Amino acid sequence: MKKSASITARMSDIITIERHILHHERQNPEATGQLTRLLYQIAYASKVISREVRRAGLLDILGTTGDVNVQGETVQKLDAIAQETFYAAFDHMGVLCCMTSEEVDDIIPIPAQFDLGKYTLAFDPLDGSSNIAANVNVGTIFSVHRKITPGRDGTSEDLLQPGRRQVVAGYVMYGSSTMMVYTTGRGVYGFTLEPSMGEFLLSHPDIRIPDEGKIFSCNMGNYRYWSEGVRKYVDDVMSTDKERDRPFSSRYIGSLVADAHRTLLYGGIFMYPMDYKDPSKPKGKLRLLYEASPMAFIFEQAGGMASTGEIPVLDVQPTELHQRVPLFLGSKREMKEVIASIKQHG
Ligand code: AHG
Ligand code: MN
Ligand code: MN
Repeated sequence: MKKSASITARMSDIITIERHILHHERQNPEATGQLTRLLYQIAYASKVISREVRRAGLLDILGTTGDVNVQGETVQKLDAIAQETFYAAFDHMGVLCCMTSEEVDDIIPIPAQFDLGKYTLAFDPLDGSSNIAANVNVGTIFSVHRKITPGRDGTSEDLLQPGRRQVVAGYVMYGSSTMMVYTTGRGVYGFTLEPSMGEFLLSHPDIRIPDEGKIFSCNMGNYRYWSEGVRKYVDDVMSTDKERDRPFSSRYIGSLVADAHRTLLYGGIFMYPMDYKDPSKPKGKLRLLYEASPMAFIFEQAGGMASTGEIPVLDVQPTELHQRVPLFLGSKREMKEVIASIKQHG
């Protein structure tokens, strides 16, 4: 009898993602339940993708489909599976008016036979896909906005909203364990998938990024294509002759989800700066709607910063679904320093 009482007490300490989402829904008296269903479904779709990622090596589904996506990149088989999983999880739910994904050129409509909802979803079904064959961490990134146009169907105007207006954003990382991290604008929460139960359990309540950190993360191979301000900042971070008493470590995985997640937990800075290889056409790499913007919402909510190097990412007005931006994410101290260097040197 005593034993079962203590088990019951422990059960009440466990917060499943369902319990967490419902708790937040109850705090909003106007909630209709659509957002709750949407979040549940993201958790569900990510469990399916997680299962596929874990089985990838066994099922001989690694390798490429041979297709090339709208961005001219080779589509990995898992990219295609993740795309299909997310689409199929949402087409019939009655919570979305339209979607957009890295893997699809145009706006993705909801099929006519299903109900429409009041939200839009932008997603990167499989982030870091060049790492798949090496069994390195990959992830999924998502961003949700409220529909703003009056008609029944969702339009690109509904998707092309600044990150500041996101209702929910987050990512799932398929790492040594599967984690889902999200924000609804009231702090950042992390859940770890308990594989035998198939439940996401709250493992990281109210994530706060340290105000400063000792890790910088970027693709140093692109150094020569960066602006002077970025190069000077990186030189400074690596220099030994300054009064810096805190040498930086360099870490770069090449999966935004994994690099951002580590930066969020340990502090420091992640950079994918503007590329001036062709000075007449400077370009960022990461996509605003489903990579930069959701990460920016998470970082600001966790007490960090997210910038294009010039303005906060959340203030960028998108003009195209697959628009790319330079991206800097991190602790306040490092972010202020890089922004100051760009301001001074360009
Ligand atoms: P995706 O796999 O969804 O196309 O994203 C790739 C991204 C991102 O995850 C990572 O931060 C970056 O590309 C890595 O780029 P480099 O290989 O140029 O460093
Ligand atoms: Mn990506
Ligand atoms: Mn991707």
